[in-house]
Amino acid sequence: MSLPPPGGGTAPGPRREIRPQEARADAAPPSFQEMWRQLGSIGRHPGSGGYRRYAWTGADTDCRAWFQEQAEARGLVHELDRNGNQWAWLGDPSAGDAVVTGSHLDSVPDGGAFDGPLGVVSSFAALDELRGRDGRFTRPFAIVNFGDEEGARFGLACVGSRLAAGQLTVEQAHRLTDADGTTLPQAMAAAGHDPDTIGPDPGRLARIGAFVELHVEQGRALDLAGDRVGVASAIWPHGRWRFDFRGEANHAGTTRLVDRRDPMLSYAETVLAARREAQLAGAVATFGKVSVEPNGVNAVPSLVRGWLDSRAEDQATLDTVVRGIEEAARGYADAHGIHLDVVRESFTPVVEFEHALRDEIVRLLGKEGEERDARLRVPVLGTGAGHDAGILSASVPTAMLFVRNPTGVSHSPAEYAAEDDCAAGVTALADVLEGLACT
Ligand code: GLV
Ligand code: MN
Ligand code: MN
Repeated sequence: MSLPPPGGGTAPGPRREIRPQEARADAAPPSFQEMWRQLGSIGRHPGSGGYRRYAWTGADTDCRAWFQEQAEARGLVHELDRNGNQWAWLGDPSAGDAVVTGSHLDSVPDGGAFDGPLGVVSSFAALDELRGRDGRFTRPFAIVNFGDEEGARFGLACVGSRLAAGQLTVEQAHRLTDADGTTLPQAMAAAGHDPDTIGPDPGRLARIGAFVELHVEQGRALDLAGDRVGVASAIWPHGRWRFDFRGEANHAGTTRLVDRRDPMLSYAETVLAARREAQLAGAVATFGKVSVEPNGVNAVPSLVRGWLDSRAEDQATLDTVVRGIEEAARGYADAHGIHLDVVRESFTPVVEFEHALRDEIVRLLGKEGEERDARLRVPVLGTGAGHDAGILSASVPTAMLFVRNPTGVSHSPAEYAAEDDCAAGVTALADVLEGLACT
């Protein structure tokens, strides 16, 4: 195997076989389909059919209990780290140069079943497949469930991995607050997790030699090319900006139009400007969340707060788009007598996944290509979606596998991947893990 030494990690020692602990299971661990069914009912809203698995809520606790059960059913050692990430270990983590796979189990509001869970379920299934092949691990191995990847509750994505990687300070994390005014530390404490222990965890990351996250594709590139599985090249730079338009509350029936200072008008014009700027630049820009005060049908609003999510292939383009939207918003606000504040709430620079690991994975997936045509083609593609893998990539050699999404729909209850494509994803992940972690 021709992987470079682990980034900042412990140099690999002589290889020895790692024996799984005595599996607690009396029988075979749950199959992919059984795991999928078990998870399927957790946090699903009966009305929308979408998932509402927000960080440190009951649904999150249930997902975490499920993860621990899966770990124990396979004789893995379960560990909850200081930042709320769960790990299931095979072998001694302190030996270093570990191979880690996994994803997240939380969701966006009314999210689909696949974004996150596909990576976690596939990780357990890939381990089962490897054991069926009698794969013998020569490096420590772990499956991880990163906490609060979507940021649906506290507004910041990838909180668990950002904290571990030192990309979110303890002070910043302590200031995160949900829509009900509950702070992140309060939410953690209510869920039984000690918030005083959160913070950078460089020692843990230094023991990882490679992290591979499998994820459902959130676009149609694989489908259009006729491929089941692809490898990630890069993640677009992306961020979230809060636009606060402040005007004056007033009576909807008696206030003359000319006398109004209605922030909804500048907000609406800004939404259109965002679309225009993104289109011009070949980028994307979305106002997907808005809150209005006082939020009465018969009142001119006093405050409209909209959150912009914008992403582009490169930093310069993203800067141009966001600057253009902000300038337009300031013009509209001035025209309507509105006070505007713009706050950047989060930002993730472009991520270029490590070439050596990516190339190694392409090689591992293509190795049987001569006999199996479909596996010869291993497309390498970029994505506009954020991932824990992107956060970790600053500290650890990191790669991603994508599984075909025939509609491209994601962050929606309609998100879907076909069962045979998921099975191809599991086999690809098993091939990669075998190549990286086994003799
Ligand atoms: C996470 O899925 C994101 O890209 O926002
Ligand atoms: Mn997502
Ligand atoms: Mn995801």
